[in-house]
Amino acid sequence: MTKRIRKAVFPVAGLGTRFLPATKSIPKEMLTVVDRPVLQHVVDEAREAGIEHFVFVTGRGKAVIEDHFDMSYELEDTLLKRGKKKEYDALMADLPAAGATSFTRQQAPLGLGHAVWCARDIIGDEPFAVLLPDMVTMASGKLRSRCLAQCVEAYNQYGGNVIAVEQVAPEETHQYGVVSIGKDEGHTFEITGMVEKPAKGTAPSTSIISGRYILGPEIFGILEKVEKGAGGEIQLTDGMKELAKAQAFHGVRFDGKTYDTGSKLGFLMANAAYALANPDLAETFRAEMKTLLG
Ligand code: G1P
Repeated sequence: MTKRIRKAVFPVAGLGTRFLPATKSIPKEMLTVVDRPVLQHVVDEAREAGIEHFVFVTGRGKAVIEDHFDMSYELEDTLLKRGKKKEYDALMADLPAAGATSFTRQQAPLGLGHAVWCARDIIGDEPFAVLLPDMVTMASGKLRSRCLAQCVEAYNQYGGNVIAVEQVAPEETHQYGVVSIGKDEGHTFEITGMVEKPAKGTAPSTSIISGRYILGPEIFGILEKVEKGAGGEIQLTDGMKELAKAQAFHGVRFDGKTYDTGSKLGFLMANAAYALANPDLAETFRAEMKTLLG
């Protein structure tokens, strides 16, 4: 019997250098995909997968994230007084329950492994999810669920640890964590190895770690000791590699679409995809795009 996945970690301390100057004074996680901050889309995905407690590992200049997941009394009061009940209800539906969020700070940019480790006391001794906030996923395949829900399903089947993967072109693998594939069941497979940012031409496959993880709490003790890896940072992949010596890891090929909103093209594509999936916008957006594209 596997334990239920109740808590998720969102490492949101990143500087967003790929998106300057937009991210000079706005956290990159607060840029919007249609009408919701990128981070809200990712929190929605976690909530759909059954997550009840949202742990944000933030940093300097990110206080607005905390405000976003809180009440905004003046705004809510004004909306009600002006009869904007629909807008008010939408805000209330997004608001996490009291006590369902935690915020801690990663004081220095020491890497993703370090960011996850910062959440150790809040997570405690239970398996948990990690969602990288740059990656926005969309249900569009046969399974009609976003990525984390598919990972939770795989976890319920296999236990252990689960990582979502995507396919990239061989010349792009050096930018990611890459996994080696063992017994392959199609939608899921056994992971037999992993490497963070392999040198060009050396990646064991074209399946990259795409930003959704389910991990056992044993990862924390490992992350505490793991040496700096690729880019001089404490890498989550290096910690997982160590944990894989003692515990099983399975990969999930997400049946749907993932957008890397940390890149300009990915961000624009996410906006286009979410606009086309929005019943209030789809028709006019499609027509406008047709005109624009000639
Ligand atoms: C991180 C992870 C990497 C993963 C990637 C997905 O890298 O370390 O394993 O493939 O996210 O975007 P980063 O993008 O922080 O360099």
